[in-house]
Amino acid sequence: MIKLTYHGHACFLIESNGYKLLFDPFITGNPVAKIKPEDISCNYILLTHGHNDHFGDTVEIAKRNKATVIAPFELATFCEQKGCKAHGMHIGGSYDFDFGKVKLTIAHHGSAYITDTIQYTGNPCGYVLTLGKKNIYHAGDTGLFLDMQLIGKRNKLDLALLPIGGNFTMDIDDAVQAVKFLKPKLVIPMHYQTFDLIDKDPAEFAKKLRGSGIKVKILEFGESYNLN
Ligand code: NI
Ligand code: MN
Repeated sequence: MIKLTYHGHACFLIESNGYKLLFDPFITGNPVAKIKPEDISCNYILLTHGHNDHFGDTVEIAKRNKATVIAPFELATFCEQKGCKAHGMHIGGSYDFDFGKVKLTIAHHGSAYITDTIQYTGNPCGYVLTLGKKNIYHAGDTGLFLDMQLIGKRNKLDLALLPIGGNFTMDIDDAVQAVKFLKPKLVIPMHYQTFDLIDKDPAEFAKKLRGSGIKVKILEFGESYNLN
């Protein structure tokens, strides 16, 4: 069984076979997160890109848990320079970790860590995780792209995590089209309601997929879901 917990924005904790995998841990400064970074335990952190609302509390959580950060190579190197253990990969590449297989997919977006300067952190990505017999796709931040058809063809997706908030990523209508390209069994929307600019209603997304044969699960912030 795979347990998934949504901490808002693009942050999911996935528990599988005794391993804890944390995606894009933006907790501090995330108005919808109901947990503190110090309360999170994990073995791995998977980063889709370097934007602050995804990189978030990576350094603190990775160091405290001695977790390995998995990220596109430039971002993985950036994490190493901050004292984290990291495993760099790149788009199209896959690797068999102890917990399962990871493959990086394209994402159409930017990637930089921004403070008073802008630090380039390579290309953004999405992930296909294979955990046991389950395939899970985390799209990261991206616009709609036709190659989602290929991702769906090459991987029978049990679950797709898709941004719906618009402005920085796909909006609801584009995410509906993405679902049709990917053909997952289940889709969970993400990257909405964190900020005013992406204050979208996931119920509208679910409504637009009614009758499509694809199940939509809307998670409350902090809610868990068991993928059987
Ligand atoms: Ni972003
Ligand atoms: Mn984002």
